[in-house]
Amino acid sequence: MYKAVGHYPDYWYWILRGRPSRSPHLLKQKVVREYGEKFGLKTLVETGTYYGEMVTAMKKRFDRIYSIEFVPALAERATRKFARDQHIRIFCGDSRVAMPEVLALLQGPALFWLDAGYYGWVGVRSNEQRLSAELEMILSHPYPHMILLDDARGLTGRDGIPSVDDVKAYVESKFPQRTVEVKYDIMRITLRG
Ligand SMILES: C[S@@+](CC[C@H](N)C(=O)[O-])C[C@H]1O[C@@H](n2cnc3c(N)ncnc32)[C@H](O)[C@@H]1O
Repeated sequence: MYKAVGHYPDYWYWILRGRPSRSPHLLKQKVVREYGEKFGLKTLVETGTYYGEMVTAMKKRFDRIYSIEFVPALAERATRKFARDQHIRIFCGDSRVAMPEVLALLQGPALFWLDAGYYGWVGVRSNEQRLSAELEMILSHPYPHMILLDDARGLTGRDGIPSVDDVKAYVESKFPQRTVEVKYDIMRITLRG
């Protein structure tokens, strides 16, 4: 696990507070690591690189990491940061636009960490359909990818934003072999059974 010292008090304080819905980054790392291990996935695809915290935490856990960042300065920073890591590639652009390019690179199932501020982040909210468009692309792809979506609390069901139940109903009706659950603010889309 990524041992940034500052993370530990945050993590333990979160446990002491009774595990409220907003979870610390250390927990997110734990979930990403666990899903990678559980489903034997060696490729990680992330939307929303930000400062590369998740990429750093996972760089020894996955054989290949692709991360997409919209803000050019952040993408450039991350590209420089991981320049020596041959197995890491940073893409600059809107995740919805870059996703087909990334999917085309995959040679087997991958773990997706969708964390590009779809609804719960004060980032770019230019397209409210971005999440469903990306879910559709990933779930229609030939490989059985597993998906983790952060900030599920952002799915409020208000102001044109879908609710968790809306996303669950959409995914499970369109892709009946899939199941959707939310725990600790992370939506998990895996295979049924
Ligand atoms: C919560 S941060 C990501 C944190 C990172 N995944 C981690 O775990 O360390 C959200 C990031 O998504 C980026 N973002 C927002 N809209 C985006 C879009 N349409 N495409 C790609 N990235 C986007 C923001 O610029 C920001 O850097």
